[in-house]
Amino acid sequence: MSDTTDETQEPAKKFLSYHAPRGLALLRGAVSAVPARLNSISEEQAGLKPAPDKWSKKEELGHLIDSAFNNHRRIIRAQLEDSPALPGYDGDGWVRLNDYQNRDWQELIKLWRASNRQLLAASEAAPEDSWSRECMIGDSEPLTLRFVLDDYADHMLDHLRHIGVETENLSAPRSEGDSPYPEKPAPTGYSINELMRRRWSPRAFEEGRAVERLKIMSLLEAARWAPSCYNEQPWRYLVFDGTDEEALLRARACLVEGNLWAHKAPLLMLSVARRTFTHNGKPNRTTRHDVGLASENLVLQAVDMGLVAHQMAGFDVERARHEFSIPEGYMILAMIAIGYPHRGSVENLTESLRAKETARRSRKAISEFAFAGRWGVPYGE
Ligand SMILES: Cc1cc2nc3c(=O)[nH]c(=O)nc-3n(C[C@H](O)[C@H](O)[C@H](O)COP(=O)(O)O)c2cc1C
Repeated sequence: MSDTTDETQEPAKKFLSYHAPRGLALLRGAVSAVPARLNSISEEQAGLKPAPDKWSKKEELGHLIDSAFNNHRRIIRAQLEDSPALPGYDGDGWVRLNDYQNRDWQELIKLWRASNRQLLAASEAAPEDSWSRECMIGDSEPLTLRFVLDDYADHMLDHLRHIGVETENLSAPRSEGDSPYPEKPAPTGYSINELMRRRWSPRAFEEGRAVERLKIMSLLEAARWAPSCYNEQPWRYLVFDGTDEEALLRARACLVEGNLWAHKAPLLMLSVARRTFTHNGKPNRTTRHDVGLASENLVLQAVDMGLVAHQMAGFDVERARHEFSIPEGYMILAMIAIGYPHRGSVENLTESLRAKETARRSRKAISEFAFAGRWGVPYGE
């Protein structure tokens, strides 16, 4: 099976931040997931002050916006200057002077996202060695930028929890031992959702680390809520999670030689599409489209939980049909390898795997696939 990945180009090592600060993954996850969670809080709830001298949710989120602005300056200045002495800031004073209590909740959510997106962009662009650069804040000892960003993220999560936002399931490492998601964000020309920007198809997994049942259920729940023609929900997934070890080995044995790397994934899923509609038995023209939507949901959910997922057409379809007794009324589509990211440096991978993991990501230009009203007329700026 050959696919069209452009792996011959210059490596994208800059993005593969296996050694990036812990706070970077937390920040990425928060920018992607927190606005939706904040949206479930009403304008009225957001403005309630628990006591005259206590912050409302609006004011507390405002404090986080101030924190993002202040820390953005720190990240930039400590790269431009050697050990700069930077000011602290009066949290209460900033909240009062910015009049957050009288601002619109939706506007504050947008501002929180924009300020953190800016901090994220600057942090992602920071070269690996900049994380050991130092600055002083207020009357502090010299602090590394790694500490500044980690501390920023911890402080942000504390306040978000206090506001009432669920902070589990951000794409941050779940526990001390978890390896971070291997970031290789899409170099987009226009702004897109953070989760989509981060999704890619890694081939290196943490060996021997199973994906927990609850996470597998979340993956399937994400697939479950995909849209489909007539709400047919034509997707079926055969799940090989290792509970039945022999089934997992038989699924692995279906993979072509080019996909041997996927043998290290602790979890395989096989996507299958029902060919006909249940309500009238007629062929379902969009069944593959619908299963693709479900699988994309599943894969994005994986990224959101810090898992890596890689879809594959490179396997023996007839063998899979036979091995798993899949009826003829169902089309076999793709195998998906899922697991925790590889631990440690990319340098520890074999040369060919390393080249693939660090290959630059590429796409056609929008004008090559979007047409303006008539076939072949590029839709452009
Ligand atoms: C249906 C499907 C089949 C694929 N088959 C394979 C495969 O057999 N082997 C492989 O290494 N990658 C496979 N890929 C991954 C693609 O090569 C990858 O998605 C594409 O190059 C874009 O890269 P990205 O996902 O990292 O953005 C497949 C992806 C899809 C969606």
